[in-house]
Amino acid sequence: MKTKFLSTLVASFALLAACNDGAQPAAETPAAETEVSWPEGAPRYASRDELPAPWNEADLSAGQAAFEANCVRCHSVSPSVPSTLGPNLHGVFARAPGGLESHDYSPAMDEFAATTDMTYWIPEEVDEWLANPRSYLPQSAMFFDGLADETQRRDLIGWLMIESSK
Ligand code: HEC
Repeated sequence: MKTKFLSTLVASFALLAACNDGAQPAAETPAAETEVSWPEGAPRYASRDELPAPWNEADLSAGQAAFEANCVRCHSVSPSVPSTLGPNLHGVFARAPGGLESHDYSPAMDEFAATTDMTYWIPEEVDEWLANPRSYLPQSAMFFDGLADETQRRDLIGWLMIESSK
C-alpha cells in the first residue's frame, strides 16, 4: 500500500516535471514496453484536483471499490496486464473509442468507432454508456447491466481518469 502510494507520488512529480519542462527537447529514450505512448495533447490526470467538474469531487476510494466490484472481471487498468474479456483500460481517455489495436472489438463497436466524433473517450460519454449500456450501444459485446447511481459513476470515472493515466 505504502509502496503504491510512493510510486503514485513519484509518477505525479514526473508528470509535473514534464509539464514544466517546455524549454527542453522531448526525451529521446523510448517508452518502457508496457507503456502506451501518450498522444500529444491527450488528457492525462495526476490527481483529483486536475479533473474537470464534477469528477474533481469524486470519492476515489469509493470509485476504486466500484471498479473492483463491477469492472475488474472484464477489464484491467494496469499497463502491464493484457486485455481479458474487455479491452485494457490503461490510457482509455487518451484513445478513441475502439482504439486499442490489440483488442478485437465487436462489429457494433467498430461501427461506433467509425462514426463517432470523439477523438478520445470523454468522461461524459463513458458516464452515459455506464448509466445504460444497452441503450448507449445496444449490440456491444460489453454485457453489463449498468450503474444506475450517478454518484457511484462519478466516483468510478474520477478514479479511472487518474488510474488509467498512470
Ligand atoms: C462482462 C464484461 C464487462 C464488464 C463487466 C464491463 N465491461 Fe467494459 N467492455 C467490455 C467489452 C467486451 C468491451 C468492448 C465492447 C465491444 O467490443 O463491443 C468493453 C468496452 C469498454 C470501454 C471502451 C473501451 C475502448 O477501448 O473503447 C470502456 C470505457 C469500458 N468498457 C468501461 C467499463 C467500466 C468502467 C466497467 C465497470 C463499470 C465495465 N466496462 C464493465 C466488457 C465488460
